[in-house]
Amino acid sequence: MFNSFIKAVNFLRANGNTAALVYDDMLGETGLAFDKKTNIPSVNMGYWKHIDDTKSDKIHQANRAMFRLVSEAASFSENDEKVVDIGCGFATNMKYCLDNHKINNIVGLNISPIQTAWANRYLHQEGHSAKAIVILGSATSMPFADASVDKMISIEAAFHFETRELFLKEVMRVLKPGGILSLADLIICKPRSSMQKLLVKSIMKTLSVPGENVYDYDDYVLLMQKCGLEILEVEQLKNEVTIPFRKWCRKRPVALLFKYNFLWSIASIGFMFAKLDYIRVLARKK
Ligand SMILES: C[S@@+](CC[C@H](N)C(=O)[O-])C[C@H]1O[C@@H](n2cnc3c(N)ncnc32)[C@H](O)[C@@H]1O
Repeated sequence: MFNSFIKAVNFLRANGNTAALVYDDMLGETGLAFDKKTNIPSVNMGYWKHIDDTKSDKIHQANRAMFRLVSEAASFSENDEKVVDIGCGFATNMKYCLDNHKINNIVGLNISPIQTAWANRYLHQEGHSAKAIVILGSATSMPFADASVDKMISIEAAFHFETRELFLKEVMRVLKPGGILSLADLIICKPRSSMQKLLVKSIMKTLSVPGENVYDYDDYVLLMQKCGLEILEVEQLKNEVTIPFRKWCRKRPVALLFKYNFLWSIASIGFMFAKLDYIRVLARKK
């Protein structure tokens, strides 16, 4: 108890990109939600469009729906030589892609050592280790050669990257000309009042979001275009992701407060009230 308090204090005092600490020290091996039927953790808010209730285990269905949405947009084919998943969590999306699409090999990149180790064990257990591996590394300095990637997927991770713009520059470097980025991402909107500023500060600190990544949906789209990506599809998914996910959280506040480090959970409350948005984009390197 005392140790977890100290851990949270140290975490909240830490500077710089602490995303690995958020996931390893605060969420650990159970993630945001743990599916007891399959023993699989998830770290994704889910896509709730066709899910009409927010019962506890519906989050896993919503996670799969998110994987389906983003992976179908990528139109994987057997001709893709290299597919990557950036900020791949526990590799549950990679497993979804391997089971549902024609993919010869997929590489995940993750900054969290705990998730990377868990993901590689999982891929091995599921018989996918010949085709899939997760590498420990950062989205802003990808261990891939220039113009080597056919398709890149990234789900709900870019808001952490220090910075999102640097990540998009890396996307432009590693994608082949004509290569595809299929991305979904949480947006922490620019605060418009002092109260909103406080809430955004709480999110920046507890969820490890660099201040440079705080802007609205329209600015996100402009940034992608400025970096040289051609937008093929774009949609705003606040009603399908952030609103129902918060509803899911509100139904179990006590369970969520006690599931994680208590001090960190209290400090994260800004997430429930700040102005959030959500984007899904399909883009091509020109
Ligand atoms: C909200 S989770 C989403 C995980 C996964 N894409 C999913 O949808 O299940 C964000 C992920 O981004 C990873 N991450 C954060 N910062 C990163 C960085 N700079 N480079 C690579 N991965 C990062 C985290 O470790 C975590 O796995």
